[in-house]
Amino acid sequence: MRLTDCHNIDDFRVLAKQRLPWPVFDYIDGAADDEATKARNTAAYGSADLVPNVLAGVEKIDTSCTILGRKSALPLILSPTALQRVFHWQGERAVARAAEKFGLWCGISSLATVSIEEVGAMISTPKMFQLYVHKDKGLNRSMIERCQAAKFDAIALTVDTIVAGKRERCARSGFTSPPRFTVSSALSYALKPRWALDYVFREKFALPNLDTHVSQGTGEAVSIAGYFNTMLDQSMTWQTADQIRQEWGGKFVLKGVMSVADARRAVEIGCDGIMISNHGGRQLDGSRAPFDQLAEIVDAVGGMIEIICDGGVRRGTHALKSLAVGATAASGGRLYLYALAAAGQAGVERAIGLLKDEIERGMKLMGVTSVDQLNREMLRWR
Ligand code: FNR
Ligand code: LAC
Repeated sequence: MRLTDCHNIDDFRVLAKQRLPWPVFDYIDGAADDEATKARNTAAYGSADLVPNVLAGVEKIDTSCTILGRKSALPLILSPTALQRVFHWQGERAVARAAEKFGLWCGISSLATVSIEEVGAMISTPKMFQLYVHKDKGLNRSMIERCQAAKFDAIALTVDTIVAGKRERCARSGFTSPPRFTVSSALSYALKPRWALDYVFREKFALPNLDTHVSQGTGEAVSIAGYFNTMLDQSMTWQTADQIRQEWGGKFVLKGVMSVADARRAVEIGCDGIMISNHGGRQLDGSRAPFDQLAEIVDAVGGMIEIICDGGVRRGTHALKSLAVGATAASGGRLYLYALAAAGQAGVERAIGLLKDEIERGMKLMGVTSVDQLNREMLRWR
């Protein structure tokens, strides 16, 4: 299978599986417990059917929208994800450049393998930094200051990772950051020599947003679960979130809100947005899907705060359905990660290009010429 054989996100997943050692593929593809929430995140979009209008004069359409005060060419955000240079040597650079090329927001993880400064200087399109609140307060302050200096457009504080999800595929494979070549995993790496050569001979692994303060995850190999459970601050509260919002002073989003009560609270503390998200099913398995939960949150706080529906998006129509319910935009991780792993920047560009085509085609077939025309009249729940 080659890149040109990829016609949808699932095709990229197949190609990524061919190219990656299985511990790395399973880190991306895997989720918590029975992975029921991960499956539901995508299946949820099948619970609502689109009802198109015709004869709407759709020769020219506008797919753009405004997200957190900045224009986006599509109602789609590339969610922040960790460790991208482990998936492909081009890592975050590939994703950021592809986002810039298509005029999209992209996210940079606290556990990114490229620095805040480099990404800030590299692209002019909007970027959000994903913050994990660490026990080390100096580290939290340092990341916020670096985002200010690098002129990031928003901080997304992740609130659904207070402890690590039970990711059984990672427990079985022994996946660590940085990847460790153990006797039991050696075969998986030996079977994918191209990945292994890139990993060994290209730029050395680093977590440049953290390694000023911690050696775990860089100098010292740890599992992602081990990192979360020892390094992150489990005492974090609404007060912490509010303090960080004030310290940052820019656009501020909570990533991982699922309940109406929490959405209201996010409005109260002055957040600019919420990402309805269960972390792609990687944290609380059994948690409801973002798309299933979207309508009640839009009914409660729509118009007061921007609502981004994160997770499970594999098709342009999934984004259109989220917008029809009332989201500002859709967001996703694996929708570009499989493509990154499969083929670096060319892969990410192809994946976004396919989703762009699907969004354009879907809008025309729905009879809308701008994304704000999508509404609940155009949806029926099964
Ligand atoms: C993530 N996600 C994530 N979220 C976050 O806040 N910080 C992070 O470092 C990461 N890292 C990460 C790595 C990988 C491999 C994946 C798949 C996901 C979650 C991500 O931002 C987003 O919420 C999910 O990816 C959404 O689900 P989909 O789009 O992958 O189905
Ligand atoms: C994950 C991280 C790092 O989901 O948030 O693996």
